[in-house]
Formats: sequence, structure tokens, C-alpha cells
Amino acid sequence: MSNKIKVSPSILASNFSMLGEEVEHISKAGADYIHVDVMDGHFVPNLTIGPDVVKSIRDKTAVPFDVHLMIDPIEPYIDGFVKAGADIISIHPEANDDTEKCLNKIKSHNVKAGLAINPDTDWEVVKPYMNVLDLILVMSVHPGFGGQKFISSAIDKLKSLRKEIDHSGREIELEVDGGINFENIQSVIDAGANVIVAGTTTFKGGQSEYRNNIEKLRGH
Ligand code: DX5
Ligand code: ZN
Repeated sequence: MSNKIKVSPSILASNFSMLGEEVEHISKAGADYIHVDVMDGHFVPNLTIGPDVVKSIRDKTAVPFDVHLMIDPIEPYIDGFVKAGADIISIHPEANDDTEKCLNKIKSHNVKAGLAINPDTDWEVVKPYMNVLDLILVMSVHPGFGGQKFISSAIDKLKSLRKEIDHSGREIELEVDGGINFENIQSVIDAGANVIVAGTTTFKGGQSEYRNNIEKLRGH
């Protein structure tokens, strides 16, 4: 796997009143993925966006959409997000849905499948799915809101997962999500993460700062 660190800005921290323009700007600023946080007011205590909004911004950029589903049930909505243009879809094993069935459904559409794990969930939950996963997302905050404080137990989890991925021999991306800033990013990279979600930090300071923010996160 290449050592290049990818930055996936979470549009949750963008200005929703001009979402299309924000997606264009963050893409031009060098985003590797666009992180789309989907919340249902049930699996997490917040509501965000659905497939129609994702579809409406799809033609604003060629950057892959990294869609993080914080929803339960999951399965009835997969087709909608695929049709809306998702390139990667991550789901939570903590939802009361059939994880394996959902991952296989995502893969059947030739979309990359990810498993997102909450701070209180053991990393070993990924083990049965290593053969199908394209990405593992370690939550470093409790999902639901942007702008929260990084939970440091994510570091050991990343280290364990990095080992597991390397042993598997498969090209599985290791993503970290929540509370990432200029101060703690090196610690998650050192622990093995190669995709960094950042909302507050990438969108800070307005559009003129997006490129700076992304480059600073990458350590340039
Ligand atoms: C939290 C979301 C995160 C969040 C990241 O539920 O999954 O993607 O938007 O935002 P920051 O970078 O502000 O913690
Ligand atoms: Zn997210």
C-alpha cells in the first residue's frame, strides 16, 4: 500500500447553505475523498442528509465520496446511496442490522465497503469481514456531532488494526474519524491510519484556508 496520507474532509463542518460550492472548493484545495456523514436521529442523536442531497452534489467534483452511514436499519438505504454516487460506503456493526448482508450488498454494486467502529467497540469485531472489507473506520469520537474532542483510546485500536490489516495481505484502508487537529494528526498516522477524516480542521477559516488546512494536515 502506498504511504500517502489521504485527507477526507467531512462536509458536516461546511456551510450547508452553499454545499455545492463548498464541495467544489474543498476538492480544488486537494481533498482526496469527500466524507459524507449520514445520521438518522435514531442510531445517533442527530439528523443530517440523505441520498437526494448526495446526488445533488455528485456533479460538483470528481473526488470520490466516502459515505459514512450512522443509520439503523442500513440495508433499505444502500441502493439509494449507491445510485446517488457513493464510492465507499461504511456501515456500523453496532446497528441492529445484518452486517455481512449489508457489506455484501454494497460490494455487489462494485462500491467499496467499510466497517466503522465506535469508541466502545472492540477492534476484533472486524475479523469475520476481513475478506470483504476495503476500509476500516475507527471512530475517535462518539458518532453524532462534529467538533468533539479526540478520544485517545483510538490510538491503540489503530495499532491493532494496522497489524491485522498487514497480516491479512489485503489492501484495506485504515481511516480515523473525529476530533483530528494539527496537534494530534501525527499520532494517528504513527499508529497506522492512512485516511484522515477532518471536519472542523479542514473547513476552519473559510474557503481561502482550505488548501492550507489540508496541506498542514498532510504535514507539508
Ligand atoms: C461524527 C462524524 C465525523 C465528524 C468529524 O459523528 O462521523 O465525521 O463530522 O468532525 P470533526 O473533524 O469536527 O470532529
Ligand atoms: Zn464520519
